[in-house]
Amino acid sequence: MSQVKTQIKIGELDDFIENVGKVVEVQGHSIAIFRLAENRFRAVENRCPHKQGPLAEGIVSGEYVFCPLHDWKIGLQDGKVQAPDHGCVQKFDVAVEKQGVYIVI
Ligand code: FES
Repeated sequence: MSQVKTQIKIGELDDFIENVGKVVEVQGHSIAIFRLAENRFRAVENRCPHKQGPLAEGIVSGEYVFCPLHDWKIGLQDGKVQAPDHGCVQKFDVAVEKQGVYIVI
């Protein structure tokens, strides 16, 4: 059975600074949003699978974020923790339409 997804507006393009994470709360999820180069957006659960570090405060490098607590490296495309650590975080889709930015959930 397929689930119907909805788009929830979380702001305007200019509300997001490139390579600086921002937290939004959507339907009970605390989500870390990252604006990458060329207006690409990534969104993952704002909770590191190690010890709940706030990923939105991590350092962004390319398609990865480094957790601010113990530096685990997490892929922003698929939410996977990179070796030698393991685990994953939930990822969310983001849509950009004109100037609006939306979480697809
Ligand atoms: S809480 Fe993220 S690396 Fe430890």
